[in-house]
Amino acid sequence: MTTIDKKTSATSAPLLEVRDLHVEFHTRDGVAKAINGVSYSVDAGETLAVLGESGSGKSVTAQAIMGILDMPPGRIPKGEILFHGEDMLKMSAEERRKIRGRRIAMIFQDALSALNPVLSVGYQLGEMYRVHLGLSRKEAKARAIELMDRVKIPAAAARVNDYPHQFSGGMRQRIMIAMAMALEPDLIIADEPTTALDVTVQAQVMDLLAELQREENMGLILITHDLGVVADVADKIAVMYAGRIVEQSPIHDLYKRPAHPYTRGLLDSIPRLDQKGQELYAIKGLPPNLMKIPTGCAFNPRCPKATDICRTEVPALVSVTEQDGGELPGRGSACHFWKETIHG
Ligand SMILES: Nc1ncnc2c1ncn2[C@@H]1O[C@H](COP(=O)(O)OP(=O)(O)O)[C@@H](O)[C@H]1O
Ligand SMILES: [Mg+2]
Repeated sequence: MTTIDKKTSATSAPLLEVRDLHVEFHTRDGVAKAINGVSYSVDAGETLAVLGESGSGKSVTAQAIMGILDMPPGRIPKGEILFHGEDMLKMSAEERRKIRGRRIAMIFQDALSALNPVLSVGYQLGEMYRVHLGLSRKEAKARAIELMDRVKIPAAAARVNDYPHQFSGGMRQRIMIAMAMALEPDLIIADEPTTALDVTVQAQVMDLLAELQREENMGLILITHDLGVVADVADKIAVMYAGRIVEQSPIHDLYKRPAHPYTRGLLDSIPRLDQKGQELYAIKGLPPNLMKIPTGCAFNPRCPKATDICRTEVPALVSVTEQDGGELPGRGSACHFWKETIHG
């Protein structure tokens, strides 16, 4: 098989394209259909936000892309994950290992459990260079300090021998970002990277990630359950529900006028500074049990607009247009009543 060369992206294929991905988990209690036909793509220099409540399949999709899904119990019965146009699901374990960490890197929510508590951060950052690039300890340490500088950790040279617990949550997440950046990947997947942090620190870490992404022209997939966090940094957004994409859109269009009642519900449940004191809207009910996803639209039991067709027919993800039929590039909705929702 060919090895994908970073410098020769001569093909017009997107950096990453997930096509009709299905993932199920075979457990003692039955089969959980976690991912039910997800398609999305991200290009170099582009940021895709993936939004959805807990359990909607955001992380499982990311794990499938990284090749770190638990198999078993996980299975991928169908789908393609194209990286520079090549299906990673057809690659050997060895080929995938070469991509993981080097070409596609991941940042997790919980930096403290991702870092080794008994090794200094400098050692752990340097390890990337020693193991993957064969640098000496001294060279690796120098590169570790450069990286810490790059992610704006104050007094990097003085702190390189400190241990993870000596850093604040925000600084630890910067270290995770540094580690992901170390081998100059083409794509970073950040799975709820700021969820554990308080709001002001969240914004700083998110800004840093966006800045590095721009400078390096990387693709970025930003997974979150919090629409507020991604507003300023994402180019486009995919909204997931019960393992499907129910709405996709360029980011600003989505805020102005969602085309799916689920997205509308998520938007209405964001706290707004100009509405202090008002009771916050919450989508009623809970996401479905993935072993018995409701027939028709999976969201129908919670949807204020549901009618008979919503209980029987699965709505396809279709292009969303202006009222007069004018194009809305990049927009799609999987709602039988998208027209009423966006234009009504
Ligand atoms: N290792 C596993 N074994 C069984 N089921 C799993 C496993 N990992 C994930 N799932 C199922 O997949 C669903 C989606 O999980 P996940 O992608 O982690 O959701 P989120 O959108 O919160 O990231 C979970 O609700 C769970 O039912
Ligand atoms: Mg998750």
